[in-house]
Amino acid sequence: MARKKVTVVGAGNVGATTAHWLAAAELADIVLTDIVEGIPQGKSLDLYEATPIIGSNVHVTGTNDYEATANSDLVVITAGLARKPGMSRDDLLKKNYDVIAATVKQVVAHSPNSILILVTNPLDAMAQAAFKLSGFSRNRVIGMAGVLDSARFAAFIAEELKVSVENVQAFVLGGHGDTMVPLPRFTTVAGIPITELLDAAEIERLVQRTRDGGAEIVKYLKTGSAYYAPSAAVVEMAEAILKDKKKILPCAAYLQGEYGIDGLFVGVPCKLGARGIEDVIEVRLSESERAALQKSAAAVRELVAAIGL
Ligand code: APR
Repeated sequence: MARKKVTVVGAGNVGATTAHWLAAAELADIVLTDIVEGIPQGKSLDLYEATPIIGSNVHVTGTNDYEATANSDLVVITAGLARKPGMSRDDLLKKNYDVIAATVKQVVAHSPNSILILVTNPLDAMAQAAFKLSGFSRNRVIGMAGVLDSARFAAFIAEELKVSVENVQAFVLGGHGDTMVPLPRFTTVAGIPITELLDAAEIERLVQRTRDGGAEIVKYLKTGSAYYAPSAAVVEMAEAILKDKKKILPCAAYLQGEYGIDGLFVGVPCKLGARGIEDVIEVRLSESERAALQKSAAAVRELVAAIGL
């Protein structure tokens, strides 16, 4: 069987670390691309030179043009600008929209049969942009947010209860960021809902920390944002797709009526396999959960409207 091929667009912190985890897991040949000359070439060569040590038979190359990305099975888009002091949320939205428009055009031209995983923020709006601009079917455009948010929630729960992180299954719906909707009654520790193990105030504290998870890291790093957990989240999704695992993971997906939402990217549980999103899993929500999800969707809709999508 021929080796799979993954392109990572954007060789910054998230992109390069995604390549690192992909190589470590020996999942695919990797092409790293960026607009900055030398960065993708240097990082990919350095990573390739690590493969004899880690025992991974994958090739890693870096490039500033898209020729070498041709016929990728999967393309991860992390290209974008970070918010700078004085830049409004709308400025960032429009600048990153331009980056997504430029990169998606190239990706579609060179890898017309690929599956896209979007990482650039604001996530849900950028996923919507990539979906509209690519013309790809909805199963082939996926946003990474829920796996990261769930991992943060799971890490905090495991720390609080002093149990293995492997015992925690966290369940998060909605858009990435302030309006994400964690569902404690579906969040379990070895099958036990956390509502049996923690009181409401404790759960709320962990939920709030999860919502602020990105900001907590930025506060420490000052000049950058999180990248280890975001890139690990991408690679869990990539592995499910490349190995046709049929794994259910929370992803931003283009909804067409599911959860009462139509024509919008929102985080929901998705079955990931060789065709990308093979199914959207619907669970019955309570009134308050439904209202929280609608509020989250409204926040995404506002961003999407601001870029005319
Ligand atoms: N094409 C290719 N690469 C680009 C383009 C473009 N048009 N525009 C910018 N880039 C590259 C930059 O040169 C930089 O190397 O994208 C990279 C972004 O890397 P970082 O600044 O290190 O940002 P990172 O922390 O990786 O975050 C990337 O992911 O989690 C989100 O909010 C985060 O939107 C941000 C994205």
